[in-house]
Formats: sequence, structure tokens, C-alpha cells
Amino acid sequence: MNAAVRAVVRMGIYLGCKVYFIREGYQGMVDGGDNIVEANWSSVSCIIHKGGTIIGSARCKDFRERAGRLKAAKNLVDNGITNLVVIGGDGSLTGADLFRQEWSSLLDELLKNNQITTEQREKYKSLQIAGLVGSIDNDFCGTDMTIGTDSALHRIIEAIDAIVSTAYSHQRTFIMEVMGRHCGYLALVAALTGEADYVFIPEEPEENWQKTLCDKLAQERNSGQRLNIIIVSEGAIDRNGDPITAEQVKKVVVDNLHQDTRITVLGHVQRGGNPSAFDRILGCRMGAEAVMALMEADENTEPCVISLDGNQAVRVPLMECVKQTKAVAQAMADKQWEKAVSLRGKS
Ligand code: F6P
Repeated sequence: MNAAVRAVVRMGIYLGCKVYFIREGYQGMVDGGDNIVEANWSSVSCIIHKGGTIIGSARCKDFRERAGRLKAAKNLVDNGITNLVVIGGDGSLTGADLFRQEWSSLLDELLKNNQITTEQREKYKSLQIAGLVGSIDNDFCGTDMTIGTDSALHRIIEAIDAIVSTAYSHQRTFIMEVMGRHCGYLALVAALTGEADYVFIPEEPEENWQKTLCDKLAQERNSGQRLNIIIVSEGAIDRNGDPITAEQVKKVVVDNLHQDTRITVLGHVQRGGNPSAFDRILGCRMGAEAVMALMEADENTEPCVISLDGNQAVRVPLMECVKQTKAVAQAMADKQWEKAVSLRGKS
């Protein structure tokens, strides 16, 4: 995300804007004070190679309530902020869309409470929003790739490659649990590129997976393979919608095939470290385009998400993407997996 933060700051300054950091995500916007500080060209020097985000991030309960959004609106007006770039997953972008929809009524309420003046009500009557999708899960509809996914994949692949050394030497089976929430993208691509023998993803729950898995592993070993790698997405489920855990998979392998089996849960290792070149350039392009979109917007412009489409940075309607992403989640919850995959489309 730092590459995107850097691009937003520098493109903004380049175009003559004042740019502010809002630290700690929406929490900083609600709390105001030192969380909102002006950025300059050098505040974003030397950050492109760092993982995470230098301005902090938080899951914010307050912003889910209107009272929290009211405080946030007051803080934006106090700081003279009229354009917002939001970097986050579907939760953050849904929040952004709601904030924008409520903007006018929030200002009315602030005016009624004498927290802003009539002049301020007029001056800040419109708030423009551009979203950037930052998530390792690649679970957001409307973009080919989200910022962070490629770096996470690099981390996962490095871990698989490292584990193969032990697996090969000791003829072991390794089960690796990877992140992705309810999206199997990380697991699937890691399995393909890490030459795994089996992968469990939420989008394709199998009937009788225990037998299919054991048959496949036995076949590999019988043909002379010394190791097996199984990737389990953290959101993997069976046909009943019940979770498939690495522990369950291990038990099936040990009980049926008596293979020497270990589990590795990658956890937050895959969410950190230096970003890949792809993610750095993606963040730069998305950040710059977000600023351009804001500069061209007026009060009638709908909030957009900057997305990657066929290697082009394009602007797509924020609400449509959020709606589509929620429809995928609903289809998954309804066990309509094929529908979920087709709704998710290219991403
Ligand atoms: O959405 C990104 C993600 O890393 C998921 O893959 C994972 O399920 C979740 O966040 C972990 O969240 P937390 O850091 O709050 O444990």
C-alpha cells in the first residue's frame, strides 16, 4: 500500500493540491487531531520497498455508526478536505460509499448542531471519493488484481519451495494453510505455481474429498514421487459448507496412508515483507490515477474504484463493485459456488 500512498501524495502535490495523511484508517478520521497531518514530498521518500502502510490501518467500529461518521465529517471540514482516497478491501470501500451517500445529511446535522457554519456547509457541500483495492485476498469484483496479492503469492511460493527441501529429503507430506478469507485465489495460484498435489478452495467444495485426496496422493507416491504438498485455503469448505481444516486433512492422510505428515500455517507471514515489483508498480499506477480521477470529478460524479483491467488502470463505479462483491459473498453463503465464481468474473 505504501507505493499507492506515495503516488497519491506526489501526484497530488504535483497537481498543486494540499495532501493530508489520515493515520490509522477510519479511526484516525473519526478521532481527528494528530491523526490528520499534511504530507509533503519527502514524507513518502523511502517507503516504496516497505510492506504494510506507513500511515497505519485499523478495523474501525466507530465508523460503522452514524455518530462516528458524523465526527469524521467534522474532522474533514475542519481540515478543509474535499477529496478522499480510500485504500482498503470491500469493508473499507463499502464504508466509503456510505459516507459519500450520507455526506449531505451529515453536513446538515453538523450545521444544526452549530458545529459548522453556513459558509462551511456551502463550501464543503460535495465530497469526492476514489477507492483503491488493497487486499492480499484478490476477492474484490471489478479489478483483475488487488494491491498486495502478488507479494503475498511470492511469500507463499518461497515458503512452499523451502518446505519442499524437508519434504523431499524425509519423504513427507506437508499441508500448508494459506490466507484468503472466503476467496481461494491465493491457494489456487500457489498450488499451481508451487506444484502442489492437491488444493482445497472455498469455491469448489468436493463430494467425498477424503477418497479423492487419498487416491491422488497414493498415485503420486506409487509413481515414485517422494513428497506431497497439499494447500488448504483458510476458507476451504466441504459440500455441506462446513470448514475443512489442515488438522482434518492431516488426520485423513495419516489414518489412511500412514504418511509422515506435517502442517504449516503461514499466517501473517504472507501479509508482510517487501512488496513485489508488480505490487509496487500497481500501487503507483492506481494511486496516480485516483488523484487524476478526483481532480476531474465534480459533485455529480459517482465515486469510483481504480481497477486493473487488461493491464490498464481504469475507473469503475464504486457501488457496482461493492454490490457485485457482496453478491459473490451471498452466493457463497447460499452454497451456489458456480454462481459465485461467475459473478466474481475476471478477478
Ligand atoms: O483480508 C486479508 C486477510 O489477511 C485475510 O486473508 C485473513 O483472513 C484476514 O485478513 C486476517 O485478519 P487479521 O489480521 O485481522 O487476523
